[in-house]
Amino acid sequence: STTYRILVLPGDHVGPEVMTEALKVLDVVEECQPGLRFERDSDLVGGCSIDAHGVPVTDAVLEKAAKSDAVLFGSVGGPEWTNAHPNPESGLLQLRQRLDAFANLRPCEVFIPSLVDASPIKADLVLGTKFVVVRENCGGAYFGQKVEEPDIASDLWVYTKREVERCCRVSAAVARMLGRNGDGQGGGGPAIVWSADKANVLASGRLWRKVTQNIFDEEFPDIELRHQLADSMAMLMVKNPRGFNGVVHTDNTFGDILSDISGGITGTLGILPSASISGIPGEGRCNGIYEPVHGSAPDISGKGIVNPVAQILSLAMMLRYSFHLTREAAAIEDAVTRILNSKEAGGMDIRTADMGGKASTTEIGDAICDALRTILKT
Ligand code: NAD
Ligand code: IPM
Ligand code: MN
Repeated sequence: STTYRILVLPGDHVGPEVMTEALKVLDVVEECQPGLRFERDSDLVGGCSIDAHGVPVTDAVLEKAAKSDAVLFGSVGGPEWTNAHPNPESGLLQLRQRLDAFANLRPCEVFIPSLVDASPIKADLVLGTKFVVVRENCGGAYFGQKVEEPDIASDLWVYTKREVERCCRVSAAVARMLGRNGDGQGGGGPAIVWSADKANVLASGRLWRKVTQNIFDEEFPDIELRHQLADSMAMLMVKNPRGFNGVVHTDNTFGDILSDISGGITGTLGILPSASISGIPGEGRCNGIYEPVHGSAPDISGKGIVNPVAQILSLAMMLRYSFHLTREAAAIEDAVTRILNSKEAGGMDIRTADMGGKASTTEIGDAICDALRTILKT
């Protein structure tokens, strides 16, 4: 049997609530596939680590993360730690940097009826939206030199050619996997790659555009590459979300913002997963941090109503990208789709409040586990 070693970092507020459900789903995978073992170690990150150790992530946890096969991450932060230096969020940034998890894949998909209901955008516009934001994750304004004084502060927004190049190779690989028709099997040839930058204002944006164009010309001439200014992309994404079907290839800051727009398109952040990976998808096993797009949602934590789907789909991404367990990943995604659509299929409404339903976090997790058991046993 194969053993995978996972470091579980639930974090703060809703982080532990959604993590409990994702680990239940992992239990079902183990139960149905006796050849697979997932060894789990769990530790503190974020505000809870500040409370226990005075820092948002300890060196020991960073080392454990680097030595594990993958990291399953919840969410960090909250009003309790507003004045903490360093803050909970910097624990996540240190983790991304330590693992060199330079590409953050953030898929946004609207095809299931229940999502069309949740979206604030008209059904005929939003139906069929399917893009993956590939966000550069270890550079840009997040990691440049910082100055922080009482009356002046700055963040150096810096990119090197090498950083842009390796992100391009991930975007190209995702475009091939996704396919022009979005089937995830490369159907219709590679998907379009939309590169978002501010080449009209930022020097780093001009480098981004030039290096991206060169890499696609030289290495991926069969992939259609289009450039779009990030501000107008934000507008068009809301006006016509299907217009960017394919891969949205972008830097750290723009990727953060554009992937939250995804949550506006779907109507909730509660279903959006992400994978921060340290290699080219499909090319061997690589470590990664699997984390929802959403944060610790302190406004709804502790009530048992948070949507666990983003965390569960992040688990599926872990199985797919770090472990190449494609069948198991697809089975989890199918189970989620089935549960969220159970009302449309004539069953009960099993959705949390963010999607317009009344179900609790646990009810959704249990229902997904049951559906997964059925799928994996047939
Ligand atoms: P947020 O993503 O936590 O919440 C935004 C809104 O979406 C809130 O109304 C929240 O209730 C709702 N929401 C988010 N996830 C949900 C879910 N799974 N189910 C139902 N509703 C959900 O963003 P915020 O409020 O701006 O940030 C809160 C804290 O989280 C901050 O400290 C922030 O820095 C941190 N944060 C952490 C991460 C991370 O750990 N990966 C990501 C983003 C924000
Ligand atoms: C995200 C979050 C993080 C980011 C924060 C918490 C560091 O907003 O994962 O989108 O800005 O990358
Ligand atoms: Mn964000």
